[in-house]
Amino acid sequence: MKLTVNGQEHTVDVEPDMPLLWVLRDELGITGVKYGCGIAQCGACTVHMDGIAVRSCQITAEALEGSEVTTIEGLGTPDALHALQEAWVDHQVAQCGYCQSGQIMQAATLLDLNPTPSDADIDEAMSGNLCRCGTYPRIRAAIKTAATKIQGA
Ligand code: FES
Ligand code: FES
Repeated sequence: MKLTVNGQEHTVDVEPDMPLLWVLRDELGITGVKYGCGIAQCGACTVHMDGIAVRSCQITAEALEGSEVTTIEGLGTPDALHALQEAWVDHQVAQCGYCQSGQIMQAATLLDLNPTPSDADIDEAMSGNLCRCGTYPRIRAAIKTAATKIQGA
């Protein structure tokens, strides 16, 4: 099957029921996406499929044909970070870091759909992304900083 990841086309030969999470990590070596629960309960595996945040542990390879996938590695570049990535650095959001790529990918979809989210909007949109380190206050602050920056761009 063919899929595009971070703008690059790939052909992979995998079982139809292999989750996108493992296509990315094991077949393509893209490891920013993380395995947390495997049952759509933590958000650590969040990537974008055709521009929308999805749980990659729940998307099977057979559903991917022709899709465009974006991971944290493709959201920005080291020289041109996405506004969320910049805000994450400015607010020093990460603690252990394990959940953070999923958090940022989920936040990117939030800002695409709602460029000026309230605290309640943020809490609702991010409620499926768990952080065992409790970085939620800094996540909220960073999303607000990124929203302001995107609005002013
Ligand atoms: S690993 Fe996919 S939601 Fe937890
Ligand atoms: S930063 Fe450790 S789980 Fe979120």
